[in-house]
Amino acid sequence: EQAYENIIVTTEGRVGVITLNRPKALNALNDALMREVVAAAEAFDADRGIGAIVVTGSERAFAAGADIKEMQAQSYQDMLLSDWFALWDRFCDVRTPTIAAVSGYALGGGCELAMMCDMLIAADSAKFGQPEITLGVIPGIGGSQRLTRAVGKAKAMDLILTGRQMDAEEAERSGLVSRVVPADTLLKETMEAATKIASMSLPATYVAKEAVNAALETTLAEGVRFERRTFHATFALEDRSEGMAAFIEKRKPEFKHN
Ligand code: CAA
Repeated sequence: EQAYENIIVTTEGRVGVITLNRPKALNALNDALMREVVAAAEAFDADRGIGAIVVTGSERAFAAGADIKEMQAQSYQDMLLSDWFALWDRFCDVRTPTIAAVSGYALGGGCELAMMCDMLIAADSAKFGQPEITLGVIPGIGGSQRLTRAVGKAKAMDLILTGRQMDAEEAERSGLVSRVVPADTLLKETMEAATKIASMSLPATYVAKEAVNAALETTLAEGVRFERRTFHATFALEDRSEGMAAFIEKRKPEFKHN
């Protein structure tokens, strides 16, 4: 068991939960918190007993961005030499499906962390934004790229150039979030979705996630080819035999995650 200071890590059945826990700084992402989130996500990813990972914050804030107080004194050389924020690439390499459950502020790096997750479920209280421009910087954990892919150029430019916040309703309408739910049911609904995903064949969820992500990285023809070959490959899974047999026999499948 690893001791964490900035996050709380729990499991519920096959679901791993990472709760950002720096309440005094509205869960601002400092270096220590970033390392803990990445370590916890990688530990869950290495555990075959975990089939979905939930990342959440508090009711008031998912995360109010990268830690401005920590960054303030840094120079260009510091940023370049440490390759500040590059560690987050490892969060994106996690193969287990990830869900962000967002209540309150998801600003700057907070919005970017939510966008690095595979699914984003928002409380009706959620507020999204990339306010970096108000500090004289720009998004640094993929915001300009992932927001643009999620909501298109028009709204991404609007948010990134003005730094304004977008509420949950606008975020859903724009395609940034999968679902909006009442704030007091956010965790319940997210855990239900996560439990459902975690009940599926783990290797099938790995390749499903890979196939969807390929859509953002390649041409349609290449993506369709990748999907078809990967679909063929699922026929090697024992879980595929079980899933189809269970359907024919009108019973629930018992996936063994292999
Ligand atoms: N970094 C460090 N500390 C932060 C923080 C951040 N991003 N966001 C909030 N805090 C701290 C505040 O400094 C304050 O601490 P003190 O009590 O010690 O002063 C505490 O959290 C509570 O915040 P507020 O008093 O400001 O709370 P509020 O309710 O009045 O306002 C807010 C809430 C609108 C979210 C406001 O805190 C805010 O604007 N935060 C900064 C948002 C921001 O600019 N984020 C982008 C950061 S840069 C970035 O993320 C770069 C990147 O791409 C990775």
